[in-house]
Amino acid sequence: MSLQRILVTNAKGGCGKTTIATNLASHYARVGKNVRLFDHDTQGSSLAWIRRRPGDVAPVTGVDASKNSDHRLTRSWQLRVPPETDVAIVDSPAGTDISELALLFQQNDSVLIPVLPSPIDIHATAHFIKALLTTGGARRKMIRLAVVANRVRKNTLMYHSLERFLFSLNIPFISSLRDTQLYAQAIEMGIGVQEISTSRNRIDREQWAPVFRWLDTPVVSETAPITPLFNSFER
Ligand SMILES: Nc1ncnc2c1ncn2[C@@H]1O[C@H](COP(=O)(O)OP(=O)(O)OP(=O)(O)O)[C@@H](O)[C@H]1O
Ligand SMILES: [Mg+2]
Repeated sequence: MSLQRILVTNAKGGCGKTTIATNLASHYARVGKNVRLFDHDTQGSSLAWIRRRPGDVAPVTGVDASKNSDHRLTRSWQLRVPPETDVAIVDSPAGTDISELALLFQQNDSVLIPVLPSPIDIHATAHFIKALLTTGGARRKMIRLAVVANRVRKNTLMYHSLERFLFSLNIPFISSLRDTQLYAQAIEMGIGVQEISTSRNRIDREQWAPVFRWLDTPVVSETAPITPLFNSFER
C-alpha cells in the first residue's frame, strides 16, 4: 500500500493542530497502520503525547522534525519516511511561513486546516488559506485541502458565522469537532478520544468519521482523469 501523508496546519496558534494530529495518529495506529508522527514544533507537544502513550495501545513512532533538534542529523535524514510507514502525519507549528510550508508538501498530500469559531481565527485562517492556494509549489503537487471546525458549540452565533465562512470557501469543510474536555484528557493520557473507554465519546467518534472518510478516499484513480484538487480562490 502506498504511503498516506497528512499535514495538519494553520498559521494561527491554538486552533487544534496537535489535538487533530494526535487523534489521527491514534486512529490509524488502532486500525493496524504503521504510523509516524512528525512534530515540526519546537514545543514538542506531539512528541510529549507519544511519550505518555500507554504500553497497551497501538504504538505511534514520533519524529522530532523541529529545526532545533539534533544538528548532527541532516534535515533530509531527519525527515525521511522509512518504507514500512503506512501513514505519515505532520504536526506543524503556529506562525509557519507559507513558503516554508510549501517545501514540506509532497505529491498528493492531504492537508487538514483546523479553525476555531472566533472572529480572529476566521480572519487569520482566511488569510492563510488564500496564501496557501496561491502558492505555486503547493498547486503543482496536487495537494488536497480540507477544513475542520474545532471546539464548536453549535447553535451559537459565532458557530453560524464560522459555518458561513467555511461554506464560502471553495474547499471541503468536512467536519465540526465539539468543544469537550475529552480532548484535553486524551492528550494528557497519550491517547486519542477514540481510545477512551467510555460511551461519552460516541459523538466524537461520529464527528471524526467524515474526516477519516475524506482522508481515506483515494485521490487519483488509474482510470479517472486527474482533476486539480486545488481550487481557485479569487478574493
Ligand atoms: N475540540 C476541543 N475541545 C476542547 N479543547 C480542545 C479541543 N481542541 C483543542 N483543545 C484544547 O485547545 C488547546 C490548543 O489545542 P492544540 O494544542 O491542539 O492547538 P495547536 O494548534 O496545536 O496549538 P499551537 O499553535 O500552540 O501548536 C489545548 O489546550 C487543547 O486541549
Ligand atoms: Mg501544536
